[in-house]
Amino acid sequence: MEKITFIGSGNVAQQLAPALKRCGYKIHEVCSRNAVTGKLLAKKVNASFTNDISSVEDTGGIVIIAVKDDAITEVVKKLPALENSLVIHTSGATDISSLKKKFKNCGVFWQIQTIKARTKVDFKKVPLVIEINNISSKQKLMKLAHSISKIVYSLNSQQRRVLHLGAVWVNNFPNHLYYLSESLLKKHHLPFEIFGPLILSTTESGMKNPKASQTGPAKRNDKKTMNAHLKLLPDKNYRDLYKLISKSIIKLYNP
Ligand SMILES: NC(=O)c1ccc[n+]([C@@H]2O[C@H](COP(=O)([O-])OP(=O)(O)OC[C@H]3O[C@@H](n4cnc5c(N)ncnc54)[C@H](OP(=O)(O)O)[C@@H]3O)[C@@H](O)[C@H]2O)c1
Repeated sequence: MEKITFIGSGNVAQQLAPALKRCGYKIHEVCSRNAVTGKLLAKKVNASFTNDISSVEDTGGIVIIAVKDDAITEVVKKLPALENSLVIHTSGATDISSLKKKFKNCGVFWQIQTIKARTKVDFKKVPLVIEINNISSKQKLMKLAHSISKIVYSLNSQQRRVLHLGAVWVNNFPNHLYYLSESLLKKHHLPFEIFGPLILSTTESGMKNPKASQTGPAKRNDKKTMNAHLKLLPDKNYRDLYKLISKSIIKLYNP
């Protein structure tokens, strides 16, 4: 049975370790600077726990670095050479070169989904992006990816960087706009839930053809309505964003 070691015990490790265990992998060790979450995870997946990164064992299996992006370089420096193991990180934004300098066999295993420690993830439906530094480890990483998800893409670091940036536009930015809309409605004692069906149908049609799905005053270049909206907005931040996004829409549909 392939042995897996986790470095870190945050959101991704808390979800990925039990999921891999369910797929038949042996979670050998959890190494975390956080003894509370680290021990909790180790107990959950029947693994040993350590907070001494220099003692991580070279099992010949897979070592998954699931720490925050900014800490990957520091963690790589502290880890032993791990010559017999495949060392991978789970970051969408971090180049494989951060691992290549130190590890003979290394790769990337990025999940395109928001992962929270307490919300169970159905990994079968989560697209995975993998990258590998040498052909001999490819089968090992492919097997890991396909054991857990039905959707696996093999891409290079540049392609992954672009995907990561694209994800900000479809995930982080719309969510911030939801928040601003919710705050605006709250000020007027209106329920945000009223937009549930609208959010779902916009997402569904936008997934198929975002350009054709666009509606609203900016698409029609309806100045009277846009000016009325601007007068209703509570502050400059709202007005600046409204103008900037409307300008982009007007430019696309009314060249
Ligand atoms: N969560 C997601 O939605 C998601 C999705 C796809 C990919 N990823 C990627 O997966 C990786 C982990 O993300 P996450 O959401 O699991 O992060 P997280 O919940 O913030 O957990 C990060 C882990 O890294 C540890 N850590 C932080 N700084 C460290 C350092 N300097 N040295 C050693 N350990 C350190 C933390 O320990 P402490 O508890 O002590 O801070 C914690 O165990 C990141 O590369 C992220 O980009 C995340």
